[in-house]
Amino acid sequence: MRLFKKSADLHHWLKQQKAKGKTIGFAPTMGALHNGHLSLIEASKKDNSITVSSIFVNPAQFNDPKDFEKYPITLEKDIELLELAGCNVLFLPSVSEIYPGGAPDNEHYNLGYLETILEGKYRSGHFQGVCKVVKRLLDIVQPGNLYLGQKDYQQCMVITKLIELMGWKDSIKVSVCPTLREADGLAMSSRNMRLTKAERENAPAIYRTLGFLKTNLEKGNLLPLKRKALEKLIAERFKPDYIEIADASTLQPIDEWNGKQKLVAVAAAFLNEVRLIDNLLLNE
Ligand code: PAF
Repeated sequence: MRLFKKSADLHHWLKQQKAKGKTIGFAPTMGALHNGHLSLIEASKKDNSITVSSIFVNPAQFNDPKDFEKYPITLEKDIELLELAGCNVLFLPSVSEIYPGGAPDNEHYNLGYLETILEGKYRSGHFQGVCKVVKRLLDIVQPGNLYLGQKDYQQCMVITKLIELMGWKDSIKVSVCPTLREADGLAMSSRNMRLTKAERENAPAIYRTLGFLKTNLEKGNLLPLKRKALEKLIAERFKPDYIEIADASTLQPIDEWNGKQKLVAVAAAFLNEVRLIDNLLLNE
């Protein structure tokens, strides 16, 4: 696996490869890799001649400084896992390489309502920070295919919107790869490393509650069902930010279901200090 720390070096090398007819797949990460990330590498390897991954803990997307400080860093193990997965290139930039002169405050992406609902509502500024870094990474790598995990459902929509806003829709194809789960249903996430043993045992309740919504979904008024799901999460010792049923293609919350519209259930909740998110398509 080739390792690049400088944007210009990576950009130059990839340009040479493209000139030779190679196709580029890209899976950006913040490290603390798990099998969910490795499934993105696997998907990219199937579709492209060169698979690039990046590890960069992006300070601009943390609305909570404590979350940033505690974000797990397991670089040596990550490099080993990427090698084993057959990743061809790792981009490992410093903060000043990505944001020379600091992350700009005057850069704004018009994400519309995606920025004010669900994750956008509870993590102010988060998606602007995601756009800042992803815009830079895509500028450097210029991949034909971009691989993202469905676990961050709203982020997938935001990045798709960013690609539209930048006019890159015809040159970058977004592939959303399914969420990988532990045997007990907990969605794989770097933040799971921060759970204590007792919290880890409790954590799959978030997935069970999404499953409860799926099992009990009926045409008509969804409000009583949503309320029960919220109560269930609280009874399982979660402090929910939200649990919502939304249109699967727009993420607009749905209170009255016509029985046909494709739906996704999304949830974000704290187990003490650790905030977990998950989602489940309700009628695929
Ligand atoms: O999902 C993540 O790990 C991050 O939000 C991303 C897309 C790598 C941007 O920092």
